[in-house]
Parts: sequence; C-alpha cells; structure tokens
Amino acid sequence: MSLTIITTGDGSHSLRNEALNETYHSVHGALQESVHVFIRNGLEHRLRDFHNESLSIFEVGFGTGLNALLTANYALENTVTISYTSIEAFPVPGEIWRTLNYGSTEEGQKRFYSLHEAAWETEQQIVPRFRLRKMHITLEDMILPASSFDVIYFDAFAPNKQPDLWTLPMLEKVTALLRPGGVFVTYCAKGQLKRDLKSLGLTTDTLPGPPGKKEMVRATRAVMG
Ligand SMILES: C[S@@+](CC[C@H](N)C(=O)[O-])C[C@H]1O[C@@H](n2cnc3c(N)ncnc32)[C@H](O)[C@@H]1O
Repeated sequence: MSLTIITTGDGSHSLRNEALNETYHSVHGALQESVHVFIRNGLEHRLRDFHNESLSIFEVGFGTGLNALLTANYALENTVTISYTSIEAFPVPGEIWRTLNYGSTEEGQKRFYSLHEAAWETEQQIVPRFRLRKMHITLEDMILPASSFDVIYFDAFAPNKQPDLWTLPMLEKVTALLRPGGVFVTYCAKGQLKRDLKSLGLTTDTLPGPPGKKEMVRATRAVMG
C-alpha cells in the first residue's frame, strides 16, 4: 500500500492512497470535514434527544484515526460515554500515523498515539468515557450483532473508487447495525446512495456539506418498527 501525506485546505494532514488515486479526506480540509460530517451531523445530532448514559458508534475505515480522535475529544469535553468500534482492512503503518499533525497539544498527541497503539480486536479504555475496539477486518467479512449502534460513521473510499462497499446488500448489512433512532452519516451524497437508503426503510436527509462540498447524507432508522 503506497500512502503519501498531504496537507489539506485547513492545514490538517490527510493521506493519498496512490494505487486508488484517492485521498482519505476532503482536500479542502480534513479536520473540518470530519467535524462537520461525523461529529456535528452524526454524534451531536444523535445526542440531541438521546436519553441513555452511553452511546455506541461504528466506523467503517479507521484509517488515520482522525474521526476516533475527534470523538474521544468530544467524550472528554462532554458528559457522554462512548463505546467506539472501528473496522479497518489496511491499517496505516506507524511511520505514517506518527507524522500526522492531529494532536495539537502534547496531551492530544498522546491521545492520538494511544488510539493507534491500542490492541486490535479487544475493547480498550483510551480516556475516561471513551472506549475503542478496533477490528482488523474488511467490511465484507465483518460480523456484528444487529441493532447495536447509535451512530454509524460510513467513511469508506468514494463509490467510484470502491463500488463494492456501496452496494445495496452492503448498505443493508451496515444499516442493520443501527438501533432504532440511530443515524448513519457519510460525506457522500450520490442519488443512488439516497435511493438505496430509502429503499432500506431509512429516513434520508441531504444536508449541506463541509466547506468545498455541496452536500452530505444522514439516514435515520425509525424509532418504532
Ligand atoms: C476514506 S478513508 C477514511 C479513513 C478514516 N475514517 C480516516 O479518517 O482517516 C477509507 C478507509 O477505509 C479502509 N478500507 C478500504 N477498504 C476497506 C474494506 N473493504 N473494509 C474495511 N475498511 C476498508 C481504507 O484502508 C481507509 O482507511
């Protein structure tokens, strides 16, 4: 796997997978995209009418660990306990993630490193109120119990680069993991994706995208039924 570190429009790093000629985040700003799509429109949105003590998140593509870091920061700064499960088919090598500019303070960098250094397959406490379970597995092979997550961060490579991860059966497999009232968020806003999510019985909203991108999608599983 050939990966190149790039600096995106907001100054935060991302990676380019050279074989796919695809970046891990928006070139307009990796940090601002992750905050907008996953934290604000996924996690924060779900918390608005959430009455349980702890919330569980499933991520497709651990990658650089940026979404996990932002979510751990959120748990630290707010009174919510998060259990975070992330799958990754091709873990980013240490010599690459160690050079990413994601921990802005010494503490933040330590936290970022501990996400990457955490053992695979077992749940680990990273900071108070944030537990991480990384699974080294493909989405195709992943098996997790249905109705076990409140928020899904669907952060696979784009449909034109990895069409197999965006098929109706694959979306059905992923969204079956949502609890009633749970939300699936992604940076992609393709018409076919929206039609597929609707056909799976989810309420699908097209939301404004992060800077540089017009739209994104959030799909919600009904509370009843
Ligand atoms: C768009 S990147 C985003 C990664 C991550 N969320 C981040 O913020 O860096 C997509 C990720 O999905 C991973 N991936 C590719 N194919 C996969 C598969 N079949 N199953 C699980 N993960 C896969 C890639 O290795 C990559 O890390």
